[in-house]
Amino acid sequence: MASVLIVYYSRGGHTAKITQAMAEHIRQQGHLCDVVTVAEAQAIDWDKYDTLALGACVLYGSYDKSVFAFANQYQQQLNSKPSSFFSVNVVARNPEKRIPENNKYLQKFIELSAWKPKDVKVIAGKVDYPSWRWYDRWMIQLIMKMTDGPTDPKAVIDYTDWQDVNCYADHLIDLTQ
Ligand SMILES: Cc1cc2nc3c(=O)[nH]c(=O)nc-3n(C[C@H](O)[C@H](O)[C@H](O)COP(=O)(O)O)c2cc1C
Repeated sequence: MASVLIVYYSRGGHTAKITQAMAEHIRQQGHLCDVVTVAEAQAIDWDKYDTLALGACVLYGSYDKSVFAFANQYQQQLNSKPSSFFSVNVVARNPEKRIPENNKYLQKFIELSAWKPKDVKVIAGKVDYPSWRWYDRWMIQLIMKMTDGPTDPKAVIDYTDWQDVNCYADHLIDLTQ
């Protein structure tokens, strides 16, 4: 039985939903999976886990500073076991941008993080204009306009490939073996 820990940062809840789906899938295969937010990740019993994953959503071209702080503080633990980083962003609505080498946000994490993940994944996130603050909505509409994405302020579009999320969860189990 594998034992997996997924630490995540989510602002609007979609990365949390992806993480929970992964955890459920891992548990359904008879393995153990714990999930904690970056903010909660204070007293982790690292010995309990075979595989570690860190996931975060992209916000204005980067990640919340707590994500980098976590990777910096726990790089030794992350390097001591099979570990993976996943990035959630809406540029990845374009399948080509789901290839890690083609996704600038994934590359940015590798560049800026003290922990250099050997295993990485890009997951398409969600556009949810109605739930975003006016300033965020306005800024993302602007970015979308430049990249031929949706700009309707009522648009709620889930770009996540949930089948692929399950495949990544299986991959985390495989990393253990
Ligand atoms: C304030 C804000 C800024 C964002 N900036 C980017 C961005 O620069 N590039 C991108 O691809 N997606 C961007 N997104 C899209 C998010 O990465 C996407 O909606 C993701 O699913 C959010 O996950 P969460 O619900 O866990 O916060 C942004 C979203 C918000 C709310």
